[in-house]
This record gives sequence, structure tokens and C-alpha cells, in this order.
Amino acid sequence: MSHNLLKGKRGIIFGALNDMSIAWKVAERAVEEGATITLSNTPIAVRMGQVDALAEKLNAQVIPADATSVEDLETVFAKSVEILGGKIDFVLHSIGMSPNVRKKRTYDDLDYGMLEKTLDISAISFHKMLQVAKKQDAIAENGSVVALSYVAAQRTFFGYNDMADAKSLLESIARSFGYIYGREKGVRVNTISQSPTMTTAGSGVKGMEHLMDFSNKMSPLGNANADECADYCVMMFSDFTRKVTMQNLYHDGGFSSMGMSLRAMNQYSKGLEEYTDENGHIIYG
Ligand SMILES: NC(=O)c1ccc[n+]([C@@H]2O[C@H](COP(=O)([O-])OP(=O)(O)OC[C@H]3O[C@@H](n4cnc5c(N)ncnc54)[C@H](O)[C@@H]3O)[C@@H](O)[C@H]2O)c1
Repeated sequence: MSHNLLKGKRGIIFGALNDMSIAWKVAERAVEEGATITLSNTPIAVRMGQVDALAEKLNAQVIPADATSVEDLETVFAKSVEILGGKIDFVLHSIGMSPNVRKKRTYDDLDYGMLEKTLDISAISFHKMLQVAKKQDAIAENGSVVALSYVAAQRTFFGYNDMADAKSLLESIARSFGYIYGREKGVRVNTISQSPTMTTAGSGVKGMEHLMDFSNKMSPLGNANADECADYCVMMFSDFTRKVTMQNLYHDGGFSSMGMSLRAMNQYSKGLEEYTDENGHIIYG
């Protein structure tokens, strides 16, 4: 259902790969709410993924770019302003990738060249985006920029590896740039910390299905899915959040404020029973 929350607004959505991508859902919702948008992803993702199909459906143009390349980003912002016919009102950074995770390098055996790539792709690209946009003065007054994060920036999660460091940096960039961009141009910069979600990037996390189940049982409202995340992003792009900036906003069904829930505890004790010997002693508890 549309509320015309983004009527007349222009946006750039980075990171839609396929119909599981959070960015894909955000693009669909933004257009449904009245926005016109451009889409961007790496040249290879554009070739191999389904971005063109989404573009056709939403009547949007695709501008391929590696988000670690300042030059590519300059093209995305300049072309988007030209195509959409004016300054940009909202930007979504929905980009993440860790070569260490892909190559199954554990956190105590990181390849540092790969760590640099993780940080560049997943966090510094956000700084590059903001810096390019500001230098071009491509974002309109009261514009809104959102990047997607995860609670592993604050707490340690098994298997999240160097992406945890990338997310910490990403959230820090939102605060540091948010101050400057807010002060000088009235532009809001926030991160949304989303529940684990089954996407291409998500399925790269070790034990993703178990993590999702645990997180779901821990959260009073259950996990937030990609469609719900898209709703939240639309609200953050809308004029209803004009004074929200430099925040990391949890969109996780309450997970981040929980210590232990009854559902998770019950599941845990069921698991323990499996490791109890005939005398009732816990073997591996
Ligand atoms: N899925 C989850 O559980 C979850 C939870 C919280 C936050 N997030 C974050 O949401 C964002 C989107 O991920 P997703 O889950 O929708 O997965 P996804 O795999 O659909 O999206 C990741 C995107 O990053 C793009 N990308 C990778 N390298 C790039 C580069 N150099 N330049 C430009 N784009 C590049 C990919 O092509 C892809 O479109 C990521 O930042 C991710 O960390 C995901």
C-alpha cells in the first residue's frame, strides 16, 4: 500500500543484486511510494545478477560502479542528477563483502590484503560516496543517506569475522560525516542495523540458519525481514524523520536490547538434554 511518502523525491539505490537483496526491496518500495531512482552495482553484478530486470520494472536506469572507485562514484552521482532532473533526496548504501569470509580465513588468521578489501568495500565506500556527493553538491537540503549495518559492530558474533570491524567503521563514518553534512547542508546520515536476513551476502555468514533461528527466538517481535527493512528505509528517506541523524537505528525486533528470552532459553535447555548422560550429568554443557 502506498502512502506517497516519497512523492517527487529522487534517489540512488546501491546494492540490488537479486530479488533477495535488501536493496531490491528498498528500490521497489521507494518507487511504490512515489520516488524516481537510479540503481547502481558493480559491472559484474550488473552482468551476472538481475539488476536489469529490476530497472525495467521500476523504469530506472542502471549506472554500473565499483563503490571503492571514487571515479565511478563521481559518475553515479553526476549521471543520477542528470537523469533524474535535479539533486538527489536519498541514497541507500547496501554493500558488503569480505574476501576473508569468502576464503574461509578465520579472524585469528586474517589475510591483511583481504582485510583492506573488506573495509574498503563494506565501509570506506560509504565515506567515498558521501565525500563525492558533498563535493558535487549532489544531495538536496534535508536529503537522507542510509547504510545497512549489523549488531556485530557492538557485540561479538561467531563467524561474522572482519565484517564486524567493517560495520563498526561504517557506523563511525555515519556519525563523523553526519556531523559535517548536517551542519553544512542539512543532510541526514544514519545506519540501520538489520536482523539477519537470508540474502546472497547473508548466506555467506557461518551458521546463518542457526543464527537466524537464535536471533528470531531472542527477539520479542521476531526477526525483521527484508520487506520490513525496506519500509524502515522509506521512512528514513521521508520527511517524517527530518531531525534524525548520526544514529545507528536497530531494526531487529528488539534483539539488541535482550539478554535472554524464554524461547531461546527453552531451546538451549532442549539442546543441553541431548548432552546429558544416564545419571543426568551434563557432558558438554
Ligand atoms: N543479510 C543480512 O543478514 C544482513 C544483516 C544486516 C545487514 N546487512 C547488510 O545489508 C547490506 C546488503 O546486503 P544483502 O544482505 O542485501 O546482500 P546482497 O548480497 O544482496 O547485497 C550485497 C551487495 O553488495 C554489492 N557489492 C559487493 N561489492 C561491491 C563493490 N565493490 N561495489 C559496489 N557494490 C558491491 C553486491 O554486488 C551486492 O549487490 C550489506 O551491507 C549487508 O552487510 C545484511
